[in-house]
Amino acid sequence: MRKKIIAGNWKMNKTLEEGMGLVSEISNMLKDEYKGSAKALIIPPFIHLNALGKLMADNSKLGLGAQNCSNHKSGAYTGEVSTEMLKSVGCEYVIIGHSERREYFNEHNAWLAQKVDAALASGLTPIYCCGETLAEREGNKHFEVLETQVSEGLFHLSASDMEQVVIAYEPVWAIGTGKTASTAQAQEIHAFIRGLIAAKYGADLAQNITIQYGGSVKPENAAELFAAADIDGALVGGAALQSRSFVDIIKAMA
Ligand code: 13P
Repeated sequence: MRKKIIAGNWKMNKTLEEGMGLVSEISNMLKDEYKGSAKALIIPPFIHLNALGKLMADNSKLGLGAQNCSNHKSGAYTGEVSTEMLKSVGCEYVIIGHSERREYFNEHNAWLAQKVDAALASGLTPIYCCGETLAEREGNKHFEVLETQVSEGLFHLSASDMEQVVIAYEPVWAIGTGKTASTAQAQEIHAFIRGLIAAKYGADLAQNITIQYGGSVKPENAAELFAAADIDGALVGGAALQSRSFVDIIKAMA
């Protein structure tokens, strides 16, 4: 069974006090308003994970994720955070290979594959991000780019490890731009990614993989996106920074 997951990636936003206020609001609103089966993830900056994890511990609809992790287990890697540390503060998920990290921090597929391994070894669910730039789409290179990202980051995994992975398709041109991929565009890519997985691991496994869409998801477009056959949730940026808009996106998922 595919899990339905709506994740709020806060990126580098919110002080601790602001974050605690936001999580309390989201938690209360979900308890009052949401009867569906989706899991909602709070993915704040590292420094807030411990406090926010404790704050949401009484709400089973909420889970905790990190925005990045080290590919190393421990040691002399100043500024890095290991998957075991994330696990120890209650994280269940970790985003790996967000386009902002690929672009600004030069993270490449071979390195991301190691992060996926580190996450799985610590019992964390990797949310592996992929997506093409505008130039790549306009040059009709998007299928090729996605195939490379998905195969180089994930296809070294055994079938039992692959089953634990969540994929997020985030077209770079739709992130923070207000320009969402149309439902048809997103569905086409999600079906393509599922097809790649089916070709490598078989159709049954591919059917069970959660593939989230990310890129300017808002309450106004969420329901239509979630109605598509291969879209299993969302990775939300800007709209996850306000309780009302984030909860309304979650409520768009039955
Ligand atoms: P926006 O929802 O702000 O476009 O960000 C999407 C994103 O990058 C989530 O990881």
